[in-house]
Amino acid sequence: MNILITGAAGFIGSHASEYFLSKGNTVVGLDNLDDFYPIHFKELNLAGLKQNPRFHFYQADIRDEKRLDEIFSKEDIHLVLHLAAKAGVRPSIENITAYYDVNVNGSISLLEAMRKHDVRKLLFASSSSVYGNNPKVPFSESDRVDDPISPYASTKKSGELLCHVYTHLYGFDITCLRFFTVFGPRQRPDLAIHKFTRLIDLGESIPFFGDGNTARDYTYIDDIVNGISCAANNISGYKIFNLGESRTITLQHLVETIEKAVGKPAILSRLPMQQGDVNITFADTRKARAEIGYNPQFDLETGINNFVQWYQDKKSFLYK
Ligand SMILES: NC(=O)c1ccc[n+]([C@@H]2O[C@H](COP(=O)([O-])OP(=O)(O)OC[C@H]3O[C@@H](n4cnc5c(N)ncnc54)[C@H](O)[C@@H]3O)[C@@H](O)[C@H]2O)c1
Repeated sequence: MNILITGAAGFIGSHASEYFLSKGNTVVGLDNLDDFYPIHFKELNLAGLKQNPRFHFYQADIRDEKRLDEIFSKEDIHLVLHLAAKAGVRPSIENITAYYDVNVNGSISLLEAMRKHDVRKLLFASSSSVYGNNPKVPFSESDRVDDPISPYASTKKSGELLCHVYTHLYGFDITCLRFFTVFGPRQRPDLAIHKFTRLIDLGESIPFFGDGNTARDYTYIDDIVNGISCAANNISGYKIFNLGESRTITLQHLVETIEKAVGKPAILSRLPMQQGDVNITFADTRKARAEIGYNPQFDLETGINNFVQWYQDKKSFLYK
């Protein structure tokens, strides 16, 4: 199978690319190497992939219709994994136009290129943020998701709606995957686990928002890739699945786990809750387990240890 992965140079995209290559597929990687975080992080993510002749990389923007047309004409694509996006909740408040341009208009360009070239299978990277401050836990796919609390969340909800339109009008098979905070080697440097590890390692204070009781369902990257693979094997009609661990970790517990893995104490800089941040995320994964065989395996401690090991190994290159 030939799979187009948008955002292939990013955290999740580089792992997914490795996985699909390891299963004998051809991966067409597309990424504009956006400067949301330093480009040399993305070049490191791509380094191993570029050794593989079945990895065809295009530095291109999903908003560039002409470029998409060229890529779809040249490559025989069977399935698209759409990960390219402006990610991150807090920066989306500062830059709503750019988030809508990439996450919504960019997704439309991609869907249109697919329609034109008769590629009708898509896995779309959605997010747990669509649940907003959902009062009911765990969050299930049948819960109402009409109250996003950040521009980023609203772009992901918009993406899901667009996907539904393309299934309805053009018979696309589309699965929207709601990822719950993903972590592991190569995690984006703006995300808490990466940021806290670095600051604890440097002996600097970490921003600690709220009273430590906010909680997240942290999902290890290998489990996300397992979910993507399960979804790819079962794609049919329009579906939505949560991909999480179905377990919540408080901010306090997260910091303690990172302290242990790094072997140094954290210095806390206590700050009020940030706008746009939800209080809790908690995935009900029963639907994904039952319908596509999703089977998450990783506990927080193992995942954090793997991340910290990667960070220690790469930090002199990443933070040169
Ligand atoms: N990491 C998480 O915890 C998490 C949680 C929920 C959803 N998601 C979603 O998963 C996807 C991947 O997230 P990630 O953490 O790997 O982020 P990432 O920033 O590491 O990867 C996204 C990639 O998309 C590329 N990109 C951005 N704009 C582009 C454009 N206009 N054209 C082409 N490429 C572009 C970036 O250069 C980057 O390499 C995103 O859609 C994100 O919203 C991630």
